[in-house]
Formats: sequence, structure tokens, C-alpha cells
Amino acid sequence: MAMRSLISERVSCRSSVLGARWMSSWWRNVEPAPKDPILGVTEAFLADPSPDKVNVGVGAYRDDNGKPVVLECVREAERRIAGTANMEYLPMGGSVKMVEETLKLAYGDNSEFIKDKRIAAVQSLSGTGACRLFADFQKRFHPDSQIYIPVPTWSNHHNIWRDAHVTQRTFHYYHPGTKGLDFAALMDDIKNAPNGSFFLLHACAHNPTGVDPSEEQWKEISYQIKAKGHFPFFDMAYQGFASGDPERDAKAIRIFLKDGHLLGLAQSYAKNMGLYGQRVGCLSVLCEDEKQAVAVKSQLQQLARPMYSNPPVHGALIVSTILGDAELKKLWLKEVQGMADRIIGMRTALRENLEELGSPLSWKHITNQIGMFCYSGLTPEQVDRLTNEYHIYMTRNGRISMAGVTTGNVGYLANAVHEVTKST
Ligand code: LMR
Repeated sequence: MAMRSLISERVSCRSSVLGARWMSSWWRNVEPAPKDPILGVTEAFLADPSPDKVNVGVGAYRDDNGKPVVLECVREAERRIAGTANMEYLPMGGSVKMVEETLKLAYGDNSEFIKDKRIAAVQSLSGTGACRLFADFQKRFHPDSQIYIPVPTWSNHHNIWRDAHVTQRTFHYYHPGTKGLDFAALMDDIKNAPNGSFFLLHACAHNPTGVDPSEEQWKEISYQIKAKGHFPFFDMAYQGFASGDPERDAKAIRIFLKDGHLLGLAQSYAKNMGLYGQRVGCLSVLCEDEKQAVAVKSQLQQLARPMYSNPPVHGALIVSTILGDAELKKLWLKEVQGMADRIIGMRTALRENLEELGSPLSWKHITNQIGMFCYSGLTPEQVDRLTNEYHIYMTRNGRISMAGVTTGNVGYLANAVHEVTKST
């Protein structure tokens, strides 16, 4: 009896050693992931002890002292909601009030589509969450479809549709020679894509190029997308940052609505309300009728449930408090205009500084491009020199977040850019 228990003890001891060895090898094959091309820049910036360092990497608004900004309308909304809310779950589709107000910004205050309940919409985890939810929805209901993505685009778009297992194709967008829109090639790509393809479009303030189609060009794009039976999916992360006016920045969406498209739309309050870390946004899909919208919404909720169950409440409450109050909304619109104006001012200052330094290159595109970014034309090697020699941090595609440029650092930035480009 004693002998038998000794043997079984040894066996179990050996198997637990084997088990421990097996367990210790569980993650042996995991390689470190490459750094994110945008958020990795912030990490490197934070680790740099230099007092001269400048961060024009991530697209996050800063005031003229380089400090993050909490909008006054947000502060006031927080004062109003303090202590009033409980901590209950939101429904899977999020705050109904927030979603209602958000749809009005994109589709229009008096939108017939809102009235007819033709829009399936859910609160999302900001713009990224909206895009991801849509990509998963696309995969679930059109498993063999592809998504056409502009070149270039926000780097995370590629990650989102990759992780949703949707095949990606690209279409021409930016012309490096003119530093503007490659309209002819873009139109050709829309024409040549198989009928009924999905197209990802930036509604305004294109990231990273700062190049948007004109109103006439949007009309032609809309016409061609309709003629081919493509599905337009808009990412509108910067509503208000292109012109300073969210209503004007909804122009592309309104053109497509007028032309009778069914469309998808990602909206975000990260930039235009400065609610970056609150992760509040909205995914909407315009459907043929109310019945379809109810079905689509229920499927979006079903996708959300195993992913994050239901979205966070606080940011949504801030948004609905601001947009649901005429006075606070007015203040918000003024503050959006203020952010856009500061950026426009910095564009002029950067260009003027470079010209005064006698740069042999043309820097007109700094003021021609719009929104938060300037697609400078700097090469990855020149960006590396800016970082290594001048402690200036930006993405290696040469994108400058104009929101990080200030009266205090614009001269330093211009000088460094001049130094790394003057011999090209
Ligand atoms: C950016 O493009 O810098 C922002 O949208 C932040 C992000 O998440 O990449």
C-alpha cells in the first residue's frame, strides 16, 4: 500500500514537472510586436529627456503652450453631470441620446433618414471601434467582399480590416508630385474595381495627407461610386477640423446622401471634443427602410456583446449634455473653430519661417493642405535625422501633426526641417 502511494506520488511529481515545463513554453514563440507607427512615436518622445523635444507625431490637439486641452464646454458638462449619474450598464447599442445627437451632426438636423428611422446606429469605442465594428459586420454578411483603402491612409485602417479578415485593396489618392489629390487615378480605380466593392473614404481632413477632394470632385466620386454599385464607408474622425465648422465638414456625406447612396459612417469625438481617452463615437449604417435598420442594429449589437458588451458611459454623457443644450453646443462650435484657427495660423507660420530661412523647396502645400496634418514630403531618412539630431518626433511618412506646433516651437521646427532638406 505504502509502495503504491510512493509510486503514484512520483508519477504525479514527474507529470507536474513535465506540466511546468510545458507551461513555461506556452509563449516561447511569441516575438515582440513591431512598434505602432503613430503611438510608438509618442512612446519614444516620452522617453527622450531632452528639454528641446517636440512632438508632432500623434494627432492630438495642443494649446499654444503645447499642453493638452480640455474644452470649456466639456468642463461645464462635467460640472453639470457630477453626482447625477449612476454607474449602470448602458444598453449594448450605447446611449440613445448621444447617438441621436451624433447622427444629426452628420446627416443634418432635419434629416429625412433620421425621421424615417432608416439609420442603424450604435455608440462605438471612438472612431477605431466604429471602423472595427463595421469591418466585422462587413465580414459577417459579405464574407467574400474586399475593402478598397486609399493610399496613403491612417495606418490603423490596415490593422482594423486585417484583424477583421477582410481582403484589402488600395486605390490612388495622393499625388506625391503635386502634393495634392490624384483625382484622375482615383476615379480610374473606382471605375476599375469590381462592381459592388466596399470603399473606405475619409469624410474630411484626410489623415495623413490633409488633402480633401473639392465639392465638385466629391460629386463626381459619388456619381461614379453609385454607377458601379459600390458601398461607401466614411471615416469622419475630424469633423470640424477641416473648415472649423462641423456642418460644412459634413459636405461629402450630404452629397452622397442626396445622391441616394446607402452608406456606412464612423464618427468620433476624440478630436473635435477633445475626448481622446473617453473613447466615444458612433457607427451608423443607412438602410433601405426601418425594418432593415432594426435588423442591422441588432446585428451590430450582437457583434459588440462578445467584444466589449456595452460601451462606456461617461464620455457619452458629456457629449449628450453638450449637444443637447443650445448654449453648450454654441460654446462647443466656438471652441472647435478656435482649435481649427490656431492650426491654420501655425501652417502659415511654419511656411513663412521656412521661406525666410531661404529654403530652396516649395512649402505651399503646408498652407494648401487642411485639417490636423501636413504631409510634408519629408523622407523617412529626413524624419530620422529630425528625431536623432533635433529631438523632433513625427511619423516616418513625414506627417506633421500641426496641432503640436506652437508659437514657441515653430521657429525651431522650421530650422530643423530646413537643415535636413536644404541639400535635396
Ligand atoms: C492619429 O492619426 O495620430 C490619431 O488618429 C491617433 C491614433 O490613434 O492613431
